[in-house]
Amino acid sequence: MSINVLRVPPTIWFGEDAAKRAGAEAKRFKALKVLIITDAYMVSSGTINGVIDSLKEEGLQYDIYSGVDQEPTLAHVDECLALLKKTGGDLLIACGGGSPIDVAKAVSAMAVNPGKIQDYMGADKFTADCLPVIAVPTTAGTGSEATAVTIITDTERDVKMLISSPRIMPRVALVDPLLTLKMPKGLTAATGLDALTHAIEAYVSRKAQPMTDILALSAVKLISKYLPIAWAEPDNLEARTKTMLGALQAGMAFSNASVALVHGMSRPVGALFHVPHGVSNACLLGEVMDFSLSGNYERYAEVARAMGLPDLADDVKTAESGAAKVRSIIKKLQVPTLTELGVSRDKLAPVVEKMAEDAIASGSPGNNPRLAAKEEIIQLYYAAL
Ligand SMILES: [Fe+2]
Repeated sequence: MSINVLRVPPTIWFGEDAAKRAGAEAKRFKALKVLIITDAYMVSSGTINGVIDSLKEEGLQYDIYSGVDQEPTLAHVDECLALLKKTGGDLLIACGGGSPIDVAKAVSAMAVNPGKIQDYMGADKFTADCLPVIAVPTTAGTGSEATAVTIITDTERDVKMLISSPRIMPRVALVDPLLTLKMPKGLTAATGLDALTHAIEAYVSRKAQPMTDILALSAVKLISKYLPIAWAEPDNLEARTKTMLGALQAGMAFSNASVALVHGMSRPVGALFHVPHGVSNACLLGEVMDFSLSGNYERYAEVARAMGLPDLADDVKTAESGAAKVRSIIKKLQVPTLTELGVSRDKLAPVVEKMAEDAIASGSPGNNPRLAAKEEIIQLYYAAL
């Protein structure tokens, strides 16, 4: 019998006002000085006020790094690490979308491990215990609050580095749906479809296991039902809550079961064309699902059932209906196409070989139910335009 491990944050608070527990949780770690890692909008909009007030209530000192203005790069990690060393923080609170949380994970590791973050690309390379991270997501998507993964773009090589280690798992996740109410429609769609991709890929992954299956199928069910409602009715707290719960479950699922071909192909699109992560996933998901169905009709049929679709004549037909449903959700949420984002055949041609090679090198396509050769990945990129 095979053996599996499930690693998740030791403490997860989920529900309204969870963010206000930041101070009490930081105190539990005997923190002397906290560094909050966020972006400028989170500060100006007051989204982080609940976190700050809770630190004040506990009498904790804090500094703020608000420079995470886009998906994380080497520069963000270096800048934030320099501030941490200057201010002497001993605990990090990441507040924002996946980007500040990913920066916090990288900084928590590089504060105590030698060398450069580029030295740690891949799995399980950190040797020292990282500073504790409390993750407070403000989108319902990346699941970064519950994963042992960080993605940092190496801007010198145009590569999105996938860095994973149990040591960078946030010690606490404060998952508060009230923080997602102000998300604009485009961000709701992109982050929510990222979460749907996590859920589907974790379920069909070759590394899927019984404990991740429960989380992944629950996430598919929640996100496919409630994301379109949250998108159409931004103030609908029930829809926001259920979508965020699905995103959290999907994060826990894929952190342990891995993602697959969509994510493998998506990262080079982001690195070279600066398309936001959730959008590039959404642009690829339909084509990649159609390609992948034959690798495991049974599992894709189960995905369809989780979306509330009826059993058809056989698993092949049921699986195909699930892929069609996913395409319809993406269409409904008005995600721009790659062509609309300026990625043309002419722009793709000179770089598509490198993109396919980088996708394969990331390892994620190796988890796909149907393995794709380099030529097939290239064809999928063109088909997704
Ligand atoms: Fe993702």
